[in-house]
Amino acid sequence: MKKAILVAGATGNLGNRICRELIIRNADVSAIVRSATDLEKIDVLTKMGVKVIEVDLNSVDEIAKACVGIDCVISAVAGLRDVIVDLQSRILDGALQAGVPRFIPSDFCTNYNDLVPGENRNFDLRREFKAYLDSAAIKASSIFNGAFADILKYNTPILNLKDKSIGYWGEKADWKLDFTTMDDTAAFTAEVALDNNALRDLEIASFQISPNELWANVKELTGQEFRIHQLSTLEDFAGFIKKQRADNPAGENELYAKWQQAQYMYSMFSTQHNQLSNEQYDNLSWTTGLAYMKSFVSPNQS
Ligand SMILES: NC(=O)c1ccc[n+]([C@@H]2O[C@H](COP(=O)([O-])OP(=O)(O)OC[C@H]3O[C@@H](n4cnc5c(N)ncnc54)[C@H](OP(=O)(O)O)[C@@H]3O)[C@@H](O)[C@H]2O)c1
Repeated sequence: MKKAILVAGATGNLGNRICRELIIRNADVSAIVRSATDLEKIDVLTKMGVKVIEVDLNSVDEIAKACVGIDCVISAVAGLRDVIVDLQSRILDGALQAGVPRFIPSDFCTNYNDLVPGENRNFDLRREFKAYLDSAAIKASSIFNGAFADILKYNTPILNLKDKSIGYWGEKADWKLDFTTMDDTAAFTAEVALDNNALRDLEIASFQISPNELWANVKELTGQEFRIHQLSTLEDFAGFIKKQRADNPAGENELYAKWQQAQYMYSMFSTQHNQLSNEQYDNLSWTTGLAYMKSFVSPNQS
């Protein structure tokens, strides 16, 4: 029998791809959206074959109604406390009320379980929701994909194509960083949603690549030797982030404040995915680092 999967955050960048991957796998896919949601985004979902249900996301009863008969709820919402803790709690309450057996929260980040609370604001919010999720009578699976590979395109200190530099913190030029493309994350998430035996925590990475290996890939693709350098010690980086945060109180209300982006990079250099579940499902293929970099590093990089 077809599995029925409900997606929250289906109009988002990742949520949309998850819906596509579920449809490919012959699932019955529905999406709960709010009344403010962009109609064009709803149209894209409808054309894909998703049953879109507009609900008052403040009402647990309305969410529960949409959850009746659902095998797994996937949350791919993005936001701060009002979304990651408050909205996800209401979605979970709706799922519980309807007797949904499984829930995938909107983690989709580095595995924060071994990281120190207080180091990454957005991970702390996920931790807070996780405590509630793990106290509930529902089977949960979290997907930890490291960083979306897109960040390699954004001229961060890790790889900056504009000033032709590659940077690392501490003595970590050979430290493997976890990157997963959104498409690979979405395909894996669809598999997990359809697998009643999926584990609680699932680490994945399309590719794990060190600063030195990034340097070698850039050289292979462009023939150019970028400057590779230590940015600072990790201790100094932590101090810098604290100061940056204190100096920018407005960032507390921004999802990707500058200091939060720095917190993500600090996390990437603090923990690694050592137990990959990439091989869990036979029919998945994973993007390699070189293939991904080829999509945006031009041979004539100027
Ligand atoms: N690991 C990484 O490097 C990385 C990078 C980026 C994102 N992520 C994570 O990936 C997940 C998905 O992110 P994304 O980039 O796909 O997000 P996105 O494109 O910004 O989409 C966010 C989704 O959440 C919904 N949403 C936001 N606020 C809402 C609210 N107050 N009430 C109801 N719905 C709301 C949006 O609905 P509307 O269409 O109605 O606005 C949309 O469907 C999140 O957990 C995010 O933190 C991870």
